[in-house]
Amino acid sequence: MSHPKPRIAIAADHGGFRLKTHLIAFLQKDGYDVSDLGTHDAETSVDYPDFGAKAAEAVTGGDADFSIIVCGTGIGISIAANRNKAVRAALCHDTTTARLAREHNNANILALGERVTGTITAEDITRVFLNTEFEGGRHAKRVEKMS
Ligand code: RB5
Repeated sequence: MSHPKPRIAIAADHGGFRLKTHLIAFLQKDGYDVSDLGTHDAETSVDYPDFGAKAAEAVTGGDADFSIIVCGTGIGISIAANRNKAVRAALCHDTTTARLAREHNNANILALGERVTGTITAEDITRVFLNTEFEGGRHAKRVEKMS
């Protein structure tokens, strides 16, 4: 029996809006239920901490299984999301870090930078992140130490 697809929440500031829009279509085409937490255009300057916090609340409150967050670099919005103690947001630049973020860190949020990561690479990272299980074992106690 196959697992149901995880529910995804996605949020970005203006610097990540275009990649967010692209990823929503990419995920929906693949059958994911995606909740768009904004922002809703690239022209209006907004503050990434607000969107990092919204994405954090979506996973910690149980509305989503994973969140995806995007800003220009992915740095600001990942720092913001990680202020929530139950969040493990991983800024990934390639499929190796995406895989290990899940296998070793049980990351529950994927962070991406629109201005530093190409669209196809971002798709690959997202696919790997969402399809990789946490390994548990020796990694579990380390993850537990953070909560
Ligand atoms: C916005 O200009 C930019 O600073 C933001 O998207 C992000 O890169 C911050 O870390």
